[in-house]
Amino acid sequence: MTEAPVRETAHAKINLALHVRERMDDGYHRLETLFAFAEDGDVLTAQAASDISLTISGQFADGLPSDERNLVVTAANALRVATGTAAGAALHLEKKLPVASGIGGGSADAAAVLRLLVRLWKLDGCEQQFAAIAKSLGADVPACLLSETCFGEGRGERLRPLSAAPLRDRPLLLINPGVALETGRVFADWDGRDRGGLVLSEPLEIDAGWRNDLEAPAIGLVPEIGDVLAELRGRSGVEFSAMSGSGATCFGLFERIEDRDAAAEKLSQTNPDWWLMMSSLR
Ligand code: C5P
Repeated sequence: MTEAPVRETAHAKINLALHVRERMDDGYHRLETLFAFAEDGDVLTAQAASDISLTISGQFADGLPSDERNLVVTAANALRVATGTAAGAALHLEKKLPVASGIGGGSADAAAVLRLLVRLWKLDGCEQQFAAIAKSLGADVPACLLSETCFGEGRGERLRPLSAAPLRDRPLLLINPGVALETGRVFADWDGRDRGGLVLSEPLEIDAGWRNDLEAPAIGLVPEIGDVLAELRGRSGVEFSAMSGSGATCFGLFERIEDRDAAAEKLSQTNPDWWLMMSSLR
């Protein structure tokens, strides 16, 4: 009898704050960021097989490669090599999150496949290898591997977990105006001005001083992001809203589920082309 597939959620990543401090010599940027994660996201399943393979379904599956150009396959191959296992996996990705949209996407998928294969291949005690692989796959992958509220420094890969109980289960609405944005392009348009570091309270409370320094360059490239933020900020019961990562997805945190649902209903009527996801912080 074939075993039931194992399953992992690639939780959508949200930068509650993203302070850009400096452009470094290697072209990357030194950041201080507050990562949080949604309960929902893409879904990955895996079944034991002799080789690594990937199939993709879902709203945003179109045009996604299922070979080594997909970070899911790169991550699986890297883990296989690092641990020397001969096992394979038939992987399936249900792509529910928009691609190139500032909420993790490929990074969250790559992190989820690492967590998944550790379970499928029963790899224990490989934490150091995971950390090294995660870092090599992208700046956001280590945070996505953790998928818990944390403070990120450096390129965003140096992490410190935070006590975030006051934010847990907070109703969350994600909105994307339907335009993909390449991360490197947005960073390249940052104006180079250091607007100051990110000081966090512990336990963490929502702070009106949080900002995303990539919001202005992203709006310069995709003006619709300004419309999304204006709409979100005009809704009743919204406690905090901003753009996530390099955009174009924006988020609103709400005090009550009813307010989030009312905002989602209104915005899906007034802007039927926008992508919306109702979730909560984990
Ligand atoms: O690491 P990742 O592949 O996700 O980054 C994509 C691009 O985003 C990089 O090539 C770089 O241009 C930009 N980036 C940056 N500074 C960071 C993270 C990403 O400039 N801290």
